[in-house]
Amino acid sequence: MANTLTITKPDDWHLHLRDGDMLKGVIADTSANFSRAIIMPNLVPPVITVADAISYRERILAAKPKGHNFTPLMTLYLTEQTDPNDVADGFKSGVVSACKLYPAGATTNSASGVSNFDNIMPVLEKMADIGMPMCVHGEVTDSDIDIFDREAIFIDRVLDPLRKRIPELKVIMEHVTTKEGVDYVKSNDTLLAATLTTHHLIINRNAILAGGIKPHYYCLPVAKRELHRLALREAATSGDKRFFLGTDSAPHIDPLKLSACGCAGIYTSINTMSCLAHVFEQENALEKLEAFTSLNGPAFYGMEPNSEKITLTRQDEPIEYPTKVKTKQGDVTVFDPMFPLHWSVN
Ligand code: NCD
Ligand code: ZN
Repeated sequence: MANTLTITKPDDWHLHLRDGDMLKGVIADTSANFSRAIIMPNLVPPVITVADAISYRERILAAKPKGHNFTPLMTLYLTEQTDPNDVADGFKSGVVSACKLYPAGATTNSASGVSNFDNIMPVLEKMADIGMPMCVHGEVTDSDIDIFDREAIFIDRVLDPLRKRIPELKVIMEHVTTKEGVDYVKSNDTLLAATLTTHHLIINRNAILAGGIKPHYYCLPVAKRELHRLALREAATSGDKRFFLGTDSAPHIDPLKLSACGCAGIYTSINTMSCLAHVFEQENALEKLEAFTSLNGPAFYGMEPNSEKITLTRQDEPIEYPTKVKTKQGDVTVFDPMFPLHWSVN
């Protein structure tokens, strides 16, 4: 068995870096192994205008270790008041790469998201005109809809009708967690793609609920049944250009996770590449890892792949990595895949 693998340096097409001391504490885990990342705008308050994105971008670059070659790709948080011209100016000037659509209330810091989709038609039409992608958190928020069904129902009730109204809009279904999501992407054309997280390739809902409640495996969209995990693994390891990595690494300090009403989010930036090499090796698909982490994403976003390479090395002994990342805000627990990892990046 090959024990080294050299691939084009990866990008992360869905990442939460937060701000302030948390940003300073986590940025190096991404900038060490990834050249670029799509930065989620769900700060408090959110990144809504191009001016907000410019100042957040500066804070990210200031927090990044000097020796790391890392470019944050900024996104704007769509609200019902978003100005289509501001969005278009930001995209044309290269400051922002995409807009993010959160249905109001779908996840962490999404209260300013969209309730009435009619109100964002002008901005979506503008985005379609200029070729600007929309990243979407694809879950309905209705309290009477079972949380495990919210992604599949979003496709039927919201996403498909919306794409029929604006067929030229480039859409990325973020962190797809269901077979329905995978099938929907596969049944469509080149203007629709999906990101898949590291953790959803590894855990199903048993990780959260069986043998005691495990808040560190709780994220949104919540992990589903095993049949869905298998569909995600098939999509990720198939090489299909419409699927690429978005870790959705989402740090929260332990007290906010280990609570009677704990936050959603799993922190994987530090061990994502080791976990993915393990998954692709298990699926006999190591030769497809580069497409998933480094080629399909830039192709969909209309960017060049990175010119730098990384080498992954497999060792017989399990690798060591921290179980906690220490930040000045507090400790963040690192995703535990529940098996030893053998691949490291060097
Ligand atoms: C994210 C966060 O914490 O910001 N949480 C999560 O569970 N993934 C928000 C999100 O992407 O839904
Ligand atoms: Zn996210």
